Amino acid sequence: MNKFLSSSRLNIATNSLDWVMGQTIRHSLNLNDAVAIDELQQLSVPDKPIETLYIHIPFCHTLCRYCSFHKIKFKESLAREYFKALRQEIRQVITQGFRFNRVYIGGGTTTILEDELIETIELIKSLTTVREVTCESDPIYFKEGNPHLLKGLVDRMSIGIQSFDDNILKMVGRFEKFGSGLQQAEYVSRAIEIIPTVNIDMMYGFKVQTPEAVAIDLAQAIRLHPDQITTYPLTLGIGKNRKKAGCLAGEPEALWPQFLAVKAALAEHYVMEFPWTFSRNFGQPVENKYVLDGEDCFGVGSGAFGRFGEQFRISSFDIPDYIDRINTGLSGTCYTKPLQHKALSQHYFMMMMGYGLLDNQQCKAHTGKSLWQAFPLEMSFLISAGALRKQGDNYITTDEGQFIALKMFSGFLSGMDYLREQARELPINTIDTLVRA
Ligand SMILES: C[S@@+](CC[C@H](N)C(=O)[O-])C[C@H]1O[C@@H](n2cnc3c(N)ncnc32)[C@H](O)[C@@H]1O
Ligand code: SF4
Repeated sequence: MNKFLSSSRLNIATNSLDWVMGQTIRHSLNLNDAVAIDELQQLSVPDKPIETLYIHIPFCHTLCRYCSFHKIKFKESLAREYFKALRQEIRQVITQGFRFNRVYIGGGTTTILEDELIETIELIKSLTTVREVTCESDPIYFKEGNPHLLKGLVDRMSIGIQSFDDNILKMVGRFEKFGSGLQQAEYVSRAIEIIPTVNIDMMYGFKVQTPEAVAIDLAQAIRLHPDQITTYPLTLGIGKNRKKAGCLAGEPEALWPQFLAVKAALAEHYVMEFPWTFSRNFGQPVENKYVLDGEDCFGVGSGAFGRFGEQFRISSFDIPDYIDRINTGLSGTCYTKPLQHKALSQHYFMMMMGYGLLDNQQCKAHTGKSLWQAFPLEMSFLISAGALRKQGDNYITTDEGQFIALKMFSGFLSGMDYLREQARELPINTIDTLVRA
């Protein structure tokens, strides 16, 4: 097909997808129906381990303009009190009988107080068995911290680089904080010597980026031989954060050629697991697990979300309130939100698109219906956008389909961003209000 025709058809398809996703997010992730929970009411403990225990560390030394994750500027005394409360919450959850396969520690800056982080992981390992501990980190930790102390505690480190290009680093305010692209490459090499599995996060979709610049950036990433490379399209969100990150973003049409550049750059040495995550195809196989696999996730710490079956659980976003809750014997989770069946099935559809295979049998096993019965509108839309190719009874994604899956993922991140924005506005639900209620 004519390349111009194909890319303009794709632009029309992704523009309408952006619109539909914005509407869907506003509808299905609206917190108007969030329910304040009576903490003294215990959660029923499932008989098998929950896939992920997510732990949130909401502090950073300085804040990046594009980042909408829950974090505040670091204050040591508050952060120390926070870690103490966090360990108390972890003890509480494990004492109640919850078990987990993996632990994912995200931020913010998880390594901001190395001694507290170590004490927290050691506590988890002393109370329960987990298969893997993943921790996010910024690159400067591998210069200024003592990462060898994490040996045997952290199995997988996910390091935020975003770009090795000094102009981009300066534009997003990371050059002053974390050093030049060359210095950051050196820190990643140090991390790879110490930590068993290293992922590096890269971003694209910034306004000065071209497909050539993306390819150069990834060539530098590949030279370091990380086990995994995650490539995030800059996500703007749909609420207040949109404006702040929006001034850094390129034209929406620039993303498709950049996505093709990402794929081409990584094709030789990395396998695409999802259109945003790549694992190396050399050496020992990498066990691949990202937090978004659609399984249950229990969140602890201020600003953590958990998904439990058909419910979202939201922890207090107010850090002093979170600490108070834990110190008065409550859990950190203060609201739940029922997830509609439609939202869950859309998440399932996004995951199938992300995996690149729409399997009729699996769809029937999961939803009780065939692909066309369960997702008639989505299937028609994707076929007309050239996003799917039939293979026997199933469908596989084309390049266009992978790009649409990437846009869906970006929509999912916007949805999380929208949830965070609303969660910050929820009334504080302390012991006093619970007792009064
Ligand atoms: C929450 S950050 C924590 C990493 C660490 N604090 C750092 O800055 O290096 C995890 C990753 O989310 C990604 N991220 C943050 N904001 C984003 C946005 N607006 N769009 C896409 N990805 C984003 C970045 O790639 C970042 O490395
Ligand atoms: S990208 Fe990392 S360092 Fe920057 S504000 Fe977000 S969590 Fe903090």
